Amino acid sequence: MKTQISFNQNFLYATAENSVGIRKETQTQTAERVQHAIAAVEKKLADHQYGFVEVLAEDHYLTAVEVAFENIRWAKTLVVIGIGGSDLGARAVQQALEVEKPPFRVIFHGDSTDPVAITRLLRSINLDETVFNIISKSGETVETISQYIYLKQVVQQSTGEWQKHFLFTTDEKNGILREEADREKVATLPIPPTVGGRFSVLTPVGLLPAVAMGVDIRTLVRGAVEFAASTEMRVLAQNFATSQFQLYTQGMKLVVMAPYSVQLEEFARWFRQLWAESLGKDGKGILPIQARGPADQHSQYQFYNQGTSMQSLFFIRIEHAAEDYTLSGIGVPAVQYLEGHSFHEILNTEQEASALALKKVGRPSAVLSMSKLDADSLGKLFMFFELAVVYVAEMLGVNAFDQPGVEEGKQMMYALMGRAGFEAKRAEIEELKKA
Ligand code: PA5
Repeated sequence: MKTQISFNQNFLYATAENSVGIRKETQTQTAERVQHAIAAVEKKLADHQYGFVEVLAEDHYLTAVEVAFENIRWAKTLVVIGIGGSDLGARAVQQALEVEKPPFRVIFHGDSTDPVAITRLLRSINLDETVFNIISKSGETVETISQYIYLKQVVQQSTGEWQKHFLFTTDEKNGILREEADREKVATLPIPPTVGGRFSVLTPVGLLPAVAMGVDIRTLVRGAVEFAASTEMRVLAQNFATSQFQLYTQGMKLVVMAPYSVQLEEFARWFRQLWAESLGKDGKGILPIQARGPADQHSQYQFYNQGTSMQSLFFIRIEHAAEDYTLSGIGVPAVQYLEGHSFHEILNTEQEASALALKKVGRPSAVLSMSKLDADSLGKLFMFFELAVVYVAEMLGVNAFDQPGVEEGKQMMYALMGRAGFEAKRAEIEELKKA
């Protein structure tokens, strides 16, 4: 079955008195800016200016991943140590595409230096059969590099040949990890220089963990390529971006992503980073909130339905479940209404009920429907949001590809920890503490 994606925005518009959805006049006011932004992004796409799209055609990255994977096949566990864009994408892949008997047990560990997590990790793995995939584009992020140093010593103490237990995914030329790899002869995979952290899931950053999980990475990448190449599919991302910008213009500065699939909860976390870090700058941006359908219908949805009105809801649903269970022979009269209905049907009906409940009180929502969830459609879903965020950034007039706020925090951290070269930052911190 070919992946079908549709974006239903019927409930986004102000069609009733009580509605805070997108108004006609907003559409008129924003039309020129929207058109201009879409044309600008389309031109840059045609001019091959987006690294995260262009890199997908560079087969040598896929080949390098396949070769690196063959070289670590002797191991059974892959521990992935990275943070932010060097972490969240592969986590999303794992949850979405889990296979029954993966070649490796893949554990994500890098996103905190909480010693409790380190104790638990070391308790749960056999070092002799473990490879640590240290992922950092800059090669110097504190959480990642500190854990590498510690784990290297742990491995050195337990086994002589520590290098074979490590695989670095890092910048092709620069950074501490690159230097360390050259000095210590540790195997590496390259992060393409033109792709930033949160856009890097379909590079060796996400693909090595993915192949170790048993994911068909060529299909995953092909799905994304097809999305980017299809005018029809790009229009879906443009429509989503346009609606986000129009809602923003009306003061709705939060978006809640609510997938109705346990396979897409980590994906929503990936989206949260992509949206916040790409758009939140220059005093602008749309704050992404991650919700879980249907669990949050019994929690946060009270707020979304009747609390302060400042967000739109964005649902994701999958139309065909790979497996499903139908209720039959119920025998409890009060629950007879469920006879013949399946769990997947209940799940998607929950989404519909939530959208209707919001519509009733005039709160906007939209839904992205995917015919199925597999490597191809997940590739498309990644590209949907990577392109959508670029369209929105262009509409807002912000640079989607930098993250000065995140960098500032990193610099403060280096200064606080006494790293050489950060003396001026240290002095700035002292001033800040006094003020
Ligand atoms: O999107 C980004 O640029 C960030 O979230 C980075 O991915 C994150 O800070 C980790 O950086 P690095 O890969 O350099 O360790």
